[in-house]
Amino acid sequence: MISIIVAIAENGVIGDKNALLWNIKEDMRRFRTTTTGHPVIMGRKTYESIGRPLPKRTNVVITRGDSEFEGCLVAHSIEEAVKMFSPDEEVFIIGGAQIYKQALPLADKLYLTVVHRSYEGDTSFPEIDYSEWQEVAREEFERGEEYDGAFTFIDLERK
Ligand SMILES: NC(=O)c1ccc[n+]([C@@H]2O[C@H](COP(=O)([O-])OP(=O)(O)OC[C@H]3O[C@@H](n4cnc5c(N)ncnc54)[C@H](OP(=O)(O)O)[C@@H]3O)[C@@H](O)[C@H]2O)c1
Repeated sequence: MISIIVAIAENGVIGDKNALLWNIKEDMRRFRTTTTGHPVIMGRKTYESIGRPLPKRTNVVITRGDSEFEGCLVAHSIEEAVKMFSPDEEVFIIGGAQIYKQALPLADKLYLTVVHRSYEGDTSFPEIDYSEWQEVAREEFERGEEYDGAFTFIDLERK
């Protein structure tokens, strides 16, 4: 099973200059608790923006190059990365924009954090065709513990 987890601004932006644009503790916690114990698959640029393998998860970095990344497995396509795991296992695509775009047609589940504010940034999530997806969970926040704005967790499964 292939899942995507992503935090998206109202205008689709997910990052700028290889970094996130917001710091929402609740979103970081959701990311950690949802993905811990599962494989995480990411693009080389997202790996570099995190700077280290995520603990308690098998980390797979996708690159066209021949670099190695300490503590990570390397794949040269999304298909190759996904094939490293049993189809029964939930694997998480954790970004960034290039990888989300290629993985969206393959994904069975989306864990979205929608940040209800527009941001300027250089990377965006691809358009989601909501007619293909069924909402299975939703949690709304008027503001975060520290983040002064509204956001919503939405889980969607492919119809
Ligand atoms: N808001 C969120 O939830 C979230 C989550 C993750 C990331 N982000 C943000 O997204 C941004 C990074 O996204 P990005 O699109 O620039 O980069 P990315 O998707 O993380 O990585 C792109 C790299 O992946 C490799 N790649 C892509 N497609 C490939 C393919 N088909 N086969 C083999 N390798 C492939 C290439 O690596 P090589 O160049 O090494 O060949 C490419 O340069 C950052 O701003 C980050 O903060 C946001």
